[in-house]
Amino acid sequence: MTNPFYVAVIGAGPAGMFGAREIANTGARVALFNRDIKPGGLAEYGIYLDKYVMKNGLRKQFRGVMEHANIDYYGNISIGTNADLTLDDLRALGFDAILVTAGAQGTKWLGLPGEDLQGVYHAKDVVYHYNHLPPHSEQSFRFGKRCAVIGAGNVMLDITHFLSRIQKADEVTAIVRRGPAEVKFEKKEMEYVIDSLDQSALDEEIQRVTPTMEAVRQDPALARASILEALPKALPKTSDTRFKFIFLASPVQMIGENGLLTQVEIEDNILVEKDGEIKAKGTGNKRRLDVETVVFAIGDKVDESFGLPTEWNEFVKNPNPRFPVDGHSYESPFEDVFVGGWSRKASSGLVGIARKDGTNAAKAVLQYLGMKQAGEANVSAVEEKLKSLGKPVVLKEHVKKLEAVEIEEAQKRGIEEFKFDSNEEMLKAVGLG
Ligand SMILES: Cc1cc2nc3c(=O)[nH]c(=O)nc-3n(C[C@H](O)[C@H](O)[C@H](O)COP(=O)(O)OP(=O)(O)OC[C@H]3O[C@@H](n4cnc5c(N)ncnc54)[C@H](O)[C@@H]3O)c2cc1C
Ligand SMILES: NC(=O)c1ccc[n+]([C@@H]2O[C@H](COP(=O)([O-])OP(=O)(O)OC[C@H]3O[C@@H](n4cnc5c(N)ncnc54)[C@H](OP(=O)(O)O)[C@@H]3O)[C@@H](O)[C@H]2O)c1
Repeated sequence: MTNPFYVAVIGAGPAGMFGAREIANTGARVALFNRDIKPGGLAEYGIYLDKYVMKNGLRKQFRGVMEHANIDYYGNISIGTNADLTLDDLRALGFDAILVTAGAQGTKWLGLPGEDLQGVYHAKDVVYHYNHLPPHSEQSFRFGKRCAVIGAGNVMLDITHFLSRIQKADEVTAIVRRGPAEVKFEKKEMEYVIDSLDQSALDEEIQRVTPTMEAVRQDPALARASILEALPKALPKTSDTRFKFIFLASPVQMIGENGLLTQVEIEDNILVEKDGEIKAKGTGNKRRLDVETVVFAIGDKVDESFGLPTEWNEFVKNPNPRFPVDGHSYESPFEDVFVGGWSRKASSGLVGIARKDGTNAAKAVLQYLGMKQAGEANVSAVEEKLKSLGKPVVLKEHVKKLEAVEIEEAQKRGIEEFKFDSNEEMLKAVGLG
C-alpha cells in the first residue's frame, strides 16, 4: 500500500518509533530524524542501566519498526532553531506534516542560588551519563560521599540506586517537598534500594511530620506501610549507603566553597489543602545539610529552543483541536505540526504510555492528511539537504552495524552490554568516522 504523503517525525524514542510506524502503515513515507545516533530515546538512555531484559525487549521492538520499508531513519540530526535543521527547513523540503516526538529535553532550573556549583545536577544529565549517551557520558560528575536527591518519583529512586549501588555513597537523602502520603515512586523500584533504607530514621521522620499530616487528615501509619511494602522483595544491598528521607522540605539554596558544593539549605514546609489538592507551603524555618552532591529529580520540561511556543513546561497545544484523540489535543498552534509522547506531556508515564501517545498523535496526523492534498514528496531533496550539512548522517544500516559491533565487543569482554561513550567512536565503528 502506498499513498503520496511524506511526514517528518522528530525524535526516535518510544513515541516517535510507534508514531512513525502508525503513519508508515498507511503507505505514507516517513523521515524519522533523531538527535542521537541510536534510536530508543529514554528507553535506551533513561531506563536503569542493568534492566537488560526490558531494554533488550524494547530494542527488539524498535528493530522491527526500523525494518519498515516506508521509514527512513536519519540519526545524528537535530531539529530546532539552533540545530541542524529548523521546522521551516522541513516545511521547505515539502513535508505534508511534522510530528514532534522529541521528548522533554529542557531542564527545570528553579533559579536557586548556587545552582551553578560543581556537584549540583539535574537527573536527566546523570541518567544520560550512566547510560552512556554522548556528550554526557564523556563529562565528569562530582558524586560525593553525601548526596541529596530532590523529589519522590521513580527517577529519584533510579538516582538513589546509582548513588548507592554504583557510586557507593555513604549517605543519600531524598528531600521531598510534600509528605510521606504524596510520594510518587512505585514499590517495584523501591525494591532495588530499600535494603539501604535507614528504617529507624524513617520512623523518626514520620513521627516528626505526623502533626502536619494529621492536620490534613492523613494517616501516617498507612503512608509508612506503603513505603515499606517493598521490603519482602528487597534486593540485598551492595554498599553501606544509608538512604533516608526528609519530608516536607524544599531546597532554597546551594552553598559552596571555591565553586564546589558543600551544603544545601532547605526550608521546612507544611501541608495545605487548596482546590481539593494537598500542597506544600514554606514555613520560613531553614536548615542546612552537608553534601557534596545534589541531584534534582523533579521532572523535565520541553526544549524551549525547539521552535514551538512553550507554556510552563510544555509546548503550547491548540486548546480546540481539529482532530482530538482520546480527548487530547495533539496539535501545536501551527496547523501542520503535531506533538506526542513527552513532547506533548513532559515527564509523564512509562514507555507503554509514550508508545500509545505517539500512536495517538500519528492518528491525529493521519486525520489531518485526510483533509489535504499531498505536496511534492521528495526524498532525494531531503537527502541532498542532509548531505549539505557536512556531517555524518546515520542510516538504518549504520544502526544495525553499530548494534552488531557493540554486541561483539560485549562478548569479547565477557560483559552483559557494551556501549561506546562518544559519537566519534560510534561513527568510526560504522564507517562514518
Ligand atoms: C530516568 C528514567 C528512567 C525511566 N525508566 C523507565 C522504566 O524503567 N520503565 C518504563 O516503562 N519507563 C521508564 N521511563 C519512562 C520512559 O523512558 C518514557 O516514558 C519514554 O521514553 C518517553 O518517550 P518519548 O518518545 O516521548 O521521549 P524520549 O524517550 O525522550 O525520546 C525522545 C527522542 O527524541 C530525540 N530528540 C530530542 N531532541 C531532538 C531534536 N531537537 N531533534 C531530533 N531529535 C531529538 C532524542 O534523541 C530521543 O531519541 C523512564 C524515564 C526516565 C527519565
Ligand atoms: N522504573 C520505572 O518504571 C521508571 C523510572 C523512572 C521514571 N519513570 C517514569 O517517568 C516519569 C517521570 O518520573 P519523575 O520521577 O521524573 O517524575 P514524577 O513521578 O512526577 O516525580 C517528580 C517528583 O519531583 C517533585 N517535584 C516537582 N517539582 C518540584 C519542585 N519544584 N521542588 C521540589 N520537588 C519537586 C514532585 O513532587 P510533587 O509530587 O509535590 O509535585 C515529585 O515528587 C514518571 O511517570 C515515572 O513513573 C518510571
